[in-house]
Amino acid sequence: RRALLGTAGATGLVLGTAGGAVGYASAPAGATPLTSVGAGRAMFHGKHQPGITDGLQARGHLVAFDLAAGAGRKEAAALLRRWSTTAERLMAGEAAPHGDTDVARDAGPSSLTLTFGFGHSFFGRTGLEKQRPAALDPLPDFSSDHLDKSRSDGDLWVQIGADDALVAFHALRAIQKEAGSAARVRWQMNGFNRSPGATARPMTARNLMGQLDGTRNPKPTDTDFDRRIFVPDPGEPAWMAGGSYAVVRRIRMLLDDWEKLSLTAQEQVIGRRKADGAPLSGGDETTPMDLEKTDAQGGYVVPLNAHARITRPEKNGGAAMLRRPFSYHDGIDADGTPDAGLLFICWQADPLRGFVPVQRKLDRGDALSRYIRHEASGLFAVPGGAAKGEYVGQRLLE
Ligand code: HEM
Repeated sequence: RRALLGTAGATGLVLGTAGGAVGYASAPAGATPLTSVGAGRAMFHGKHQPGITDGLQARGHLVAFDLAAGAGRKEAAALLRRWSTTAERLMAGEAAPHGDTDVARDAGPSSLTLTFGFGHSFFGRTGLEKQRPAALDPLPDFSSDHLDKSRSDGDLWVQIGADDALVAFHALRAIQKEAGSAARVRWQMNGFNRSPGATARPMTARNLMGQLDGTRNPKPTDTDFDRRIFVPDPGEPAWMAGGSYAVVRRIRMLLDDWEKLSLTAQEQVIGRRKADGAPLSGGDETTPMDLEKTDAQGGYVVPLNAHARITRPEKNGGAAMLRRPFSYHDGIDADGTPDAGLLFICWQADPLRGFVPVQRKLDRGDALSRYIRHEASGLFAVPGGAAKGEYVGQRLLE
């Protein structure tokens, strides 16, 4: 597994250039070796599904499916089996199982990951209500939500990430085709991050507001990382052992308003410096934030409503989540405003101890709230990784 979290001194999710297995199975003898971008390879099999702790990829597709009328548990099991075979092959840089389109031809796996999850509605459709985790109970309504229901939720969710746009698109088409008559696309969103190699050294990613975003993410080397991000084994329910819950929010950034702010005002909104992500209380990106530090007038240097103050775990009963987003840009609206922002994806062992308490706090209005708008939402149970010979979700569906 190409796990680049926390490497090279970076503390957030970084874009990696280290690559994984080098070489492309079908490259002709004597061909020029693939660059590190194409050769990067994540493993399909493992304790956890890929696409959770892996470094951010340059390209992402999020796609939700609803089971077709008449499709139940049997069809869902067959679908997850087909999707798993497809994912394993594509992540190894091999052709899709049924009629490849050649779109990813010549490219290596490019750190492709495919991650599969189940939404609340899946369990009713498949007669598996008894297996539905309590953690999948719908998220509470938040007063600042502007949710488009047609772009929210869904029976099934697939996250695709890759460092090459054609490789990601190829995977998306293969997954859609394998859905066949069992499921149809409910919504799809496309995102991106910086391309690997664009910066001189691996760095915490920037979002479309220009901030370093991901600095204070929990790190796999933290002693409590697994406990906070993954469902323990034995799990509750048992089939979720090694799994995680993904909260997906399409958050539009009101960039015209944001970009009118001075640099100082922007930094006050977050509580960190824009250039290097250092807390306003001083030091560098990794320096602990001094929440008590005051200026000459006696005011807090990190404002009381600063986003990075309000979201801190110690202010939210220890709530922790792993944020692993993509940026998005879907053109310019008729009024000239960009339809752009963050496909916010956060991972946790329990949304009620991760996303929910923090969003409740933010919903009361932190300094960032007036520059963003939550436009779509989803919560998905993402089972543990498939062992060799197994398909994703088998412990639930067989
Ligand atoms: C921290 C941006 C939405 C939870 C941060 C930081 C930035 C940022 C720049 C500081 C650097 C870092 O530690 O990563 C944004 C933007 C958002 C957004 C632009 C919306 C477009 C959210 C939402 C949540 C959230 C919806 C959860 C409900 C957090 C957490 C931290 C954080 C937990 C780290 C706090 C800490 O441990 O110090 N965010 N954020 N953010 N944000 Fe957000």
